[in-house]
Amino acid sequence: MLVDSHSHLFLEEFAEDLPQVMQRARDAGLSHIFMPNIDSTTIEPLLSVCTAYKGFCFPMIGLHPTSVNDSYEKELEVVARQLASPNEYVAIGEIGLDLYWDKTFLKEQLLVFEKQIEWALEYHLPIVIHTREAFDYIYKVLEPYKETGLTGIFHSFTGTSEEVARLLEFTGFMIGINGVVTFKKSQLPEVLKDVPLARVVLETDSPYLTPAPNRGKRNESAYLKDTLIKVAEVYQMSPELVAEATSENALKVFGMPK
Ligand code: NI
Repeated sequence: MLVDSHSHLFLEEFAEDLPQVMQRARDAGLSHIFMPNIDSTTIEPLLSVCTAYKGFCFPMIGLHPTSVNDSYEKELEVVARQLASPNEYVAIGEIGLDLYWDKTFLKEQLLVFEKQIEWALEYHLPIVIHTREAFDYIYKVLEPYKETGLTGIFHSFTGTSEEVARLLEFTGFMIGINGVVTFKKSQLPEVLKDVPLARVVLETDSPYLTPAPNRGKRNESAYLKDTLIKVAEVYQMSPELVAEATSENALKVFGMPK
């Protein structure tokens, strides 16, 4: 069993060969692929892929911080409507703060993030958090929710030991590890040594962040194996055991039966 907790296989990068991409994922031993939404333009492709691959691909709904701009109210309204209608969303994601590309909409990003956290509590859904150059803000926003039962994943964690220690204070949250851990200059293998395996989930973030030895190519869920092998090396455990443990962690946080 192997679970990709974060993959965007509904994007146009996969329009030409999606059936082959899915087959390679199954051949690599994947049992579940969890798919975070981006914004109103991606909901239709997301849902059509998750319907075509029902029982294998699972959708989340949310507004990504890099899609927050002047029309954020309209975008939030779309998310609200999706949540209020009958649906199969397993989480609210991906949401968070991204100050790497643009700080113009920081105020709006904060507002959108908090609104979606409130919805997660209201609908009893976990959240999948994207953070880029915004660690202190993320911590500050989340701190009041420590005792609320809020759960989720800190997706694509690439920070320091101090940062991971602070994130681990949120006991309902997992740390999402992807291909970055295989990059030559990554500090992540060192940092991971301080993270209990019980708090780790694996992800690809396809089509981005392809692990070595395919770094630079389009990423896909089958390449999760390369991240698994590296993480197993860090924990000095067999890939089979790490696959089992991280898959159980992912299914637990998404509230899915094994
Ligand atoms: Ni993503």
